[in-house]
Amino acid sequence: MQKIKVAIVGLGNCASSLVQGIEFYKNTYNKTGLITEVIGDYKVGDIEIVAVFDVDKRKVGKDISEAIFSEPNCTKKFSDVPHKNVIVSKGHVLDGVSMSMTDYFLVDDSQETSDVVEILKSSQAEMFVCYLPVGSTKAARFYAECALEAGVGFINAIPEFICSDQEWINKFKEKGLPCAGDDIKSQVGATILHRVITRLIQDRGFKIDNTYQLNIGGNTDFRNMLDERRLESKRISKTQAVVSNLDEGENISTRIGPSDFVSHLKDNKVCYINVKGTQFGDVPFELDLKLSVEDSPNSAGCIVDVIRYMKVALEKGISGSLEGVSAYYFKSPAVQMRENIAKEKL
Ligand SMILES: NC(=O)c1ccc[n+]([C@@H]2O[C@H](COP(=O)([O-])OP(=O)(O)OC[C@H]3O[C@@H](n4cnc5c(N)ncnc54)[C@H](O)[C@@H]3O)[C@@H](O)[C@H]2O)c1
Repeated sequence: MQKIKVAIVGLGNCASSLVQGIEFYKNTYNKTGLITEVIGDYKVGDIEIVAVFDVDKRKVGKDISEAIFSEPNCTKKFSDVPHKNVIVSKGHVLDGVSMSMTDYFLVDDSQETSDVVEILKSSQAEMFVCYLPVGSTKAARFYAECALEAGVGFINAIPEFICSDQEWINKFKEKGLPCAGDDIKSQVGATILHRVITRLIQDRGFKIDNTYQLNIGGNTDFRNMLDERRLESKRISKTQAVVSNLDEGENISTRIGPSDFVSHLKDNKVCYINVKGTQFGDVPFELDLKLSVEDSPNSAGCIVDVIRYMKVALEKGISGSLEGVSAYYFKSPAVQMRENIAKEKL
């Protein structure tokens, strides 16, 4: 079976779970944890990482099999990864590392920055996955331009509005390339639960007055998001993912987003969802829900599907926004859809 050649920028916890997952499912008949076993003709084990860019000196220059377990990555190890002969190249820092994160992301200016387009081409990558830290406004767009120049598809897992932006979609369409994004929705995470529960409440005739979703975690992503200035797009993305699924015209007060960094939680994310409103007879009701889940495998379980759908799109010559894929697997797609409609589109 032909491999799906994928490049990654940002070898953090999410990328670690993706790389581990490819190995995990390659050597087993165990399908536990997968949304889709086969897409097109492709299984998860058919994904091959061929190029990786990062800026942290503890990862740059190492083989990915080693770099994914380098600090500050802290997600659970669930698979051994043999030597891959894929060395992490130094990317372009730009705004990927904020002033408040220089003790977390250790950048060594003496390490030479690589030619991203050249490496994408020489590695024969077919698509580029963006896993940069939240707030990487310039860096995400820089790497998206590299994808266009190298002629590869683009998957944007972060809350920067690129694959949902018509100008960017047109750029990819003009080049005959597919794009999918923005901001990956976890398999069973805060967003999908909040969407489904609030939808259920409205479909069953209760009225929602207000709702909040608080999230805490101890990984680098949560540490980075302590800086409220970098958080704006994440709040917008997480809020619109829930609000877009509610009945229009209702005046519902919402507060949704990352809430604190608790280092000992590591990659364990804890989410609290609260919904208050009124039921039959105008009687009040309240719902409280807590989810505790390993954050990064939760996103990897979706990316392994997105990669395989993008491969099928490339084979079929489909370009521009992959609308069904983006609506099903991302918080901020070009077109928001209810889950059942997005699934049909897939
Ligand atoms: N469930 C999830 O984990 C989930 C869900 C939705 C979105 N996301 C988003 O995915 C992204 C990645 O999450 P993560 O937990 O892997 O983050 P992380 O902080 O563990 O990893 C980010 C990586 O990017 C590298 N980096 C920083 N600037 C760079 C640059 N300019 N060029 C190349 N590399 C650079 C860092 O060194 C680090 O290795 C975040 O934006 C996060 O919000 C994650």
